[in-house]
Amino acid sequence: RQNILTDTFGRHHNYLRISLTEKCNLRCTYCMPESGVVLSPRNQIMTAAEVIDIAALFVQHGVTKIRLTGGEPLLRKDFEEIISGLSKLPIELSMTTNAILVDRNIEVLKKSSLKTINVSLDTLHPEKFNTITKRDQFKKAFENTQLLLDEGFNVKLNVVLLKGFNDNEIIDFVEFTKDRAISVRFIEFMPFDGNRWDKSKLVSYNELLNQVEAKYSKDVVVPLPHEDNFTARNFKIDAYQGSFGIISSVTNPFCDVCNRIRLTANGKLKNCLFSTSETDLLSTYRAGISIEPIIQSAIRKKKAVRSGMTDSKDFENLTNHNNRSMITIGG
Ligand code: GTP
Ligand code: 5AD
Ligand code: SF4
Repeated sequence: RQNILTDTFGRHHNYLRISLTEKCNLRCTYCMPESGVVLSPRNQIMTAAEVIDIAALFVQHGVTKIRLTGGEPLLRKDFEEIISGLSKLPIELSMTTNAILVDRNIEVLKKSSLKTINVSLDTLHPEKFNTITKRDQFKKAFENTQLLLDEGFNVKLNVVLLKGFNDNEIIDFVEFTKDRAISVRFIEFMPFDGNRWDKSKLVSYNELLNQVEAKYSKDVVVPLPHEDNFTARNFKIDAYQGSFGIISSVTNPFCDVCNRIRLTANGKLKNCLFSTSETDLLSTYRAGISIEPIIQSAIRKKKAVRSGMTDSKDFENLTNHNNRSMITIGG
């Protein structure tokens, strides 16, 4: 019998991203619409027990990696209950966070099975941080990133590049990897509901590499081998401790090796980051009906590339794409 997590292209989805909350303590313009988002009623958000139970079911069917996202996952009051429940599963557990609440949760994080934490930090300048996040929290984010490194976590830094805003910091971020065992991933700005994407704000994979190669001689920019099911194409500067990479979902998608599915905080399964149709697992689960058949049919509907946007030009023609805002997808 066909595994329920294998799609019609033979891609096996063993990486589940679970959004724990639609709320965030920052307001990044590329993620949260200026008008905010209408939050799901509280009783439609998965409880800790539901998250753990549904996650366990995915693990039974072959999921080996779970990433917690948000909004900001550390805003969950029951974060400790969730993380300790998930830590008992035979999986690689990870999280993407803005790090603001890391110091308050550091003991919980150390006790958990989390080893790698991805931190969103788009600039090394406090004033720019205020502009992009609309919150005066640079110091906290920066110090907590260092705290994670000091505590021995593997840290990946996510930097969404915006033309004319932080693309003049590319080299600073590469230099940031000189004495730190950190992986910086530059991310092409992607379109989601309410984030005013347009092509002119995009800094592409090619532009980024050009900048890097203009600064460093070609033989010290070393391409690293692709990880399985990679998002980032990685490089390092020879002799630097850390590495840097480029997540180029717009100009250079990596869908052929996609192993990722998403569960939103209100219990909807998305078979792709860009999927506009969703499958309501939570209601079915709460009705006491088996969710396996609807998971299987959702996975089998997955398209080859970016939910049907095969050409990067498809983004330019998006007017109302009926996807969610990024804040309620979790990346
Ligand atoms: P690792 O598990 O450490 O490889 O992390 P990740 O890159 O999968 O996840 P993270 O939450 O750090 O996201 C970094 C960027 O990659 C964000 O902009 C995500 O939206 C993007 N991303 C993550 N997964 C996918 C995916 O399946 N497809 C696309 N197109 N982008 C993704
Ligand atoms: N385009 C690209 N990446 C984004 N992220 C949030 N919104 C966007 C966007 N529009 C990133 C965040 C976070 C990750 C989960 O997704 O920086 O690190
Ligand atoms: Fe997978 Fe969709 Fe991302 Fe492509 S765009 S890698 S299919 S989630």
